[in-house]
Amino acid sequence: MRKILLVANWKMDLNVSQGSFLVHRLQELIRLHRDIEIVLAPSMMALQPLSVQIDRRKFRLAAQNAYQKDVGPYTGEVSFAMLRDLVHYAIIGHSERRIYFHEDLPMIRDKVAAAVRNEITPILCVGETQHERTEGLTRRVLHDQVTTALHNLTTREVRDIVIAYEPVWAISTFQGGHARPDDVAVAMRYIRSQIAQLYGEHVATDVRVLYGGSVDDTTVRSYLEIDGCDGALVGAASLNPYKFAGIVDAAYRLQHELTTNED
Ligand code: PGA
Repeated sequence: MRKILLVANWKMDLNVSQGSFLVHRLQELIRLHRDIEIVLAPSMMALQPLSVQIDRRKFRLAAQNAYQKDVGPYTGEVSFAMLRDLVHYAIIGHSERRIYFHEDLPMIRDKVAAAVRNEITPILCVGETQHERTEGLTRRVLHDQVTTALHNLTTREVRDIVIAYEPVWAISTFQGGHARPDDVAVAMRYIRSQIAQLYGEHVATDVRVLYGGSVDDTTVRSYLEIDGCDGALVGAASLNPYKFAGIVDAAYRLQHELTTNED
């Protein structure tokens, strides 16, 4: 049974005390689930204080971004090297970073390599815009985003990374459209097929692939049921403790049903 991975992307929301309050509520609402891994991605500011507050049996931390050089004259930046003892994961190449901060394919490739070099697991976000989708470019976009980002990694390193398929048009802060699970399944299969071609079938099976884009407690199950979907990356709904606890609960119920059916 593979663990379900649920990632809460708080984006640029919640100051340190608000984040701490949300964690407090989540710790009350969410029970310990062996087969579910929950990762919180608060603002950079909140990582340190939350690292001492979280119940580590229930939660892990992720950075939402970091800079690709380990040290140097890069005023205002925080490196993956500085985060290495603080976080398990880092979100890399989120569409908001690609669009608002002009992060291009080589930069995202370097960030992925920097995370891996510092023993932080990348959660690489990929996905097409509405325009690319209507132009029939989804496959090409996914191909370029996946293959470039992994370019400097060894096969063994690729096996451990997480890829989040997040169609830009489905993210709540862009158009917030509803991606049909059937379409998500096609995109996820395509992502794995690209990995299989470059790194082999075993690696393609082991890589974890998540879905992200307007996921909430009412829709999460439809995505988690997709064959090969290992979890979800949740934005807006992760700021509401009841909705996020509902997402964890839906994941737990699905896991439980699957295990019971296996017996
Ligand atoms: P959303 O955000 O769940 O609010 O659509 C997801 C994301 O941007 O990672």
